[in-house]
Amino acid sequence: MNYKQALQHPIFKTISQASKNLNLDSYVIGGFVRDFILNRGDAKDIDIVAVGSGIDLAKAVAKLLPNQPKVQVFKTYGTAMLRYNDIEVEFVGARKESYNEDSRNPIVENGTLEDDQNRRDFTINALALSLSETDFGYLLDPFNGIQDLDNKIIRTPLNPDITYSDDPLRMMRAIRFATQLDFVIEEESLNAISRNNERIKIITKERIVVELNKILESPIPSKGLLLLEKTGLLKHFLPELTNLKGIDEVEGQTHKDNFYHTLEVVDNIAKNTDNLWLRWAALLHDIGKAPTKRFSKKVGWTFHGHEFEGSKMVYHLFKRLKMPLNDKMKFVQKLVFMSSRPIVLAQDIVTDSAVRRLVFDAGDYVDDLMTLCEADITTKNPKRFEKYHNNFKIVRDKIIEVEEKDHVRNFQPPVSGEEIMKTFNLKPSKEIGIIKEAIKEAILDGIIPNEHEAAYNLMLKKGEALGLTKS
Ligand code: CTP
Repeated sequence: MNYKQALQHPIFKTISQASKNLNLDSYVIGGFVRDFILNRGDAKDIDIVAVGSGIDLAKAVAKLLPNQPKVQVFKTYGTAMLRYNDIEVEFVGARKESYNEDSRNPIVENGTLEDDQNRRDFTINALALSLSETDFGYLLDPFNGIQDLDNKIIRTPLNPDITYSDDPLRMMRAIRFATQLDFVIEEESLNAISRNNERIKIITKERIVVELNKILESPIPSKGLLLLEKTGLLKHFLPELTNLKGIDEVEGQTHKDNFYHTLEVVDNIAKNTDNLWLRWAALLHDIGKAPTKRFSKKVGWTFHGHEFEGSKMVYHLFKRLKMPLNDKMKFVQKLVFMSSRPIVLAQDIVTDSAVRRLVFDAGDYVDDLMTLCEADITTKNPKRFEKYHNNFKIVRDKIIEVEEKDHVRNFQPPVSGEEIMKTFNLKPSKEIGIIKEAIKEAILDGIIPNEHEAAYNLMLKKGEALGLTKS
């Protein structure tokens, strides 16, 4: 089979020419070929294997290109990279590899193309297209990767125990590809992941999170999360989630399985947002339920304060996984902390003042919070499902209405501390705080509008009640 049409970008002809000049064979391999056949759009990363020196080939290619781009050489890995317009081309010499027991760093020897294909992670990632002038575009597929693409199967070229043990990150990659592409992991491979799950411990947290993020960004993230749980990988890096598994029963009273509930919430939210951090908030919204779970005869199962506990856990979890401790983390924390607020609203009659307080507390996160809470409705009772959704619709409408009227999002007090001090001729004192709080509360309760005149009059009244005199 010839795949010339995959190689229309002028860079491939240049690589072909440079290979000829150096008298070596070269191939495009991996994700580029896979994604072309799957029709997944134009890939920006191209991996080239040279049967010879990848570094020399990269330098020769750079010389032939019109803008003569800089070649970045990674001597320790024997690889080189160059950027040409918006694409990134990585060059590597074909190699035979064996791995060290305790790290991902391979012991490398030069090899043939076949040796190189053997050491790749999956049959669908071992497909190579020749760049030689004589058979330009010819496909080399020694492990029936094309057939696995057709049948949507993730399979390793070698015995899966060897492939996964060589580089345990591949266990995450298998599950990530299965989730992203909606493929099935071949049974032997899945068993090998379960057998080798402990080896994930040698992989850096950053690399694990890259794969985890890709799973979360997939259309149906639960597919990957279930596989991570089933193979025993998840407990090694997200024990907060696996701790949610299970249903306890005391005196005939049970609670829902919060792990499976969480997966449903993540799938629900994935239909409504591509925001990775909002998806993380969905994943973590109930993690405080494991440490706060209690049973009492009077009320049955409770999880009091799980939102606060959960938001504290978010920080420790992000820190442990070396995720950014920045505004993204704060966003996830705040959403976890507020995750029950709209639900309480939706169970009752929705009052203006309750909505005003919600907008005041959530600030700019209020829309994302509503999206999270809508996703959190997983009841199988159709009547309740409809009722909650309808109530949330009312809450959403009211948020807009209340915002137009009262502007409490990012609230700025309509009367400043300075104005209070000037009016009553005060030095900084606790009375100022009392008056400011009274004005804020009156606005949130809808007693006065969020306007200067009304707030000023209330200030005069409160000042009088506190025994202050107007200067
Ligand atoms: N590869 C591997 N084992 C790994 C990582 C990568 O064998 N742990 C090989 C695979 O052949 C893969 C190629 O290196 O196709 C390029 O890897 P990478 O760019 O990380 O992934 P892609 O397959 O291109 O896919 P994606 O861009 O979706 O990560």
